[in-house]
Amino acid sequence: MKTRILLLNGPNLNLLGGREPAVYGRTTLREIERSVQVLAEAWGWEVVCFQSNHEGMLIDRIQAATADSQLIIFNPGAYGHTSIALRDAIVAGGIPVIEVHLSNIFAREDFRRRSLIAPVAVGAIIGFGADGYRLAMEAARHYLAGKGVIA
Ligand code: DQA
Repeated sequence: MKTRILLLNGPNLNLLGGREPAVYGRTTLREIERSVQVLAEAWGWEVVCFQSNHEGMLIDRIQAATADSQLIIFNPGAYGHTSIALRDAIVAGGIPVIEVHLSNIFAREDFRRRSLIAPVAVGAIIGFGADGYRLAMEAARHYLAGKGVIA
């Protein structure tokens, strides 16, 4: 069975490339997804990419991934600071999540300094811009190997 990862992005991340480039950079979500796909192909993994601006759609995807994927790489966007429902979905599914934020949320406004996802994630990659997603893939590989899920 191929290792399968869900690359999940939350609200406003569809705007990457043009959205506050000084904060989030100029790389588009499509380019990020492609770079993760390239890595996955090299490793013989399958990556399913999904972005939504809607909390419920993100929850549906987390629930579905629980049944068919080994791990989720998740940038919850602003919902990461507010959504108990997303956190509950992760806990209910019991699926490992690596949280990603392009910006260093701890160096920004107070309301961004708290993540409801971080305590239920296996770890987080924060502040490395678009590179964070590929770093999360590396982290996923180490994590899954450590758990004996992959060789
Ligand atoms: C973000 C940080 C959040 O605070 C913000 O609401 C986003 C993007 C990041 O990737 O840096 O939408 O998740």
